[in-house]
Amino acid sequence: MREEKIRIELLIHDLKVPLAVIETGIMSLLKRQEKYGTIKEEQEKVLHRALRNTRLIHAIVNDALELGRSREGIIDMEQFEVSNFVISALTELFDLIDLDTSDRIKECSELSTLKRILGGKNIRLLINEALWANELFLDLGKMKQILRNLLNNAFKYRKSLIELEFYKEKNHLFFSVRDDGEGIPLDFHEKIFKSYFQMDIKDSHTVRGHGLGLAGSMVLIEDMGGELSLESSEGNGAKFIVSVPLRPEK
Ligand SMILES: Nc1ncnc2c1ncn2[C@@H]1O[C@H](COP(=O)(O)OP(=O)(O)OP(=O)(O)O)[C@@H](O)[C@H]1O
Ligand SMILES: [Mg+2]
Repeated sequence: MREEKIRIELLIHDLKVPLAVIETGIMSLLKRQEKYGTIKEEQEKVLHRALRNTRLIHAIVNDALELGRSREGIIDMEQFEVSNFVISALTELFDLIDLDTSDRIKECSELSTLKRILGGKNIRLLINEALWANELFLDLGKMKQILRNLLNNAFKYRKSLIELEFYKEKNHLFFSVRDDGEGIPLDFHEKIFKSYFQMDIKDSHTVRGHGLGLAGSMVLIEDMGGELSLESSEGNGAKFIVSVPLRPEK
């Protein structure tokens, strides 16, 4: 069984190089037109779509490998600022849905600017300046993956608004992602954290998920000694709350 697992993970791992080659190739066509020839606007759109999807596969590959590492108890602790965590997670998320916004987020250095950019996308960011500059000692890769997963769901299920809040309490960092969608009936509050579980498979959402995002996030959070909880009732949106110790408890 263990060998089988390594084989699968190696297979996933080996996707990285060809993906990088495709990504670089498309980038070259887009960015070095003096060398490769001018491309028409319509062609550019096609290439951008291809690039976005290559990056999507790349992100999935990285997430799958990260989850495999986590199951083996490997945690890469590092020191980083909350701002760094939030900006890089948001950039990676918007890379897949809105390149323009991801570029603007990547370049912004002020919290107020970021709040404004996100506000334009109907995302309310609630965090104070002190926490924004706060240093954390956690696994940045895992933290980003968790936040992206929760935000992805919120994007899928919101009617219009998402609220992303960060605060500190009793040596823990809390962050929550709230949306104003249909919400989750109490009956499902445990089930949705199980692998492959989806409430309504034939719903109208265009992007088909796999019911793995929450189960995977739960594994990552617990590996860091944290907790994931849900506040939601039918018709009233959903709020997922993550808490992780600011520093390892050991
Ligand atoms: N914000 C939310 N509002 C309403 N329902 C949600 C929300 N987040 C998750 N769910 C429900 O929980 C199920 C499991 O979520 P999960 O993120 O694990 O899987 P997924 O989003 O369907 O697929 P994947 O994340 O693997 O792409 C979803 O299919 C959905 O039914
Ligand atoms: Mg999901």
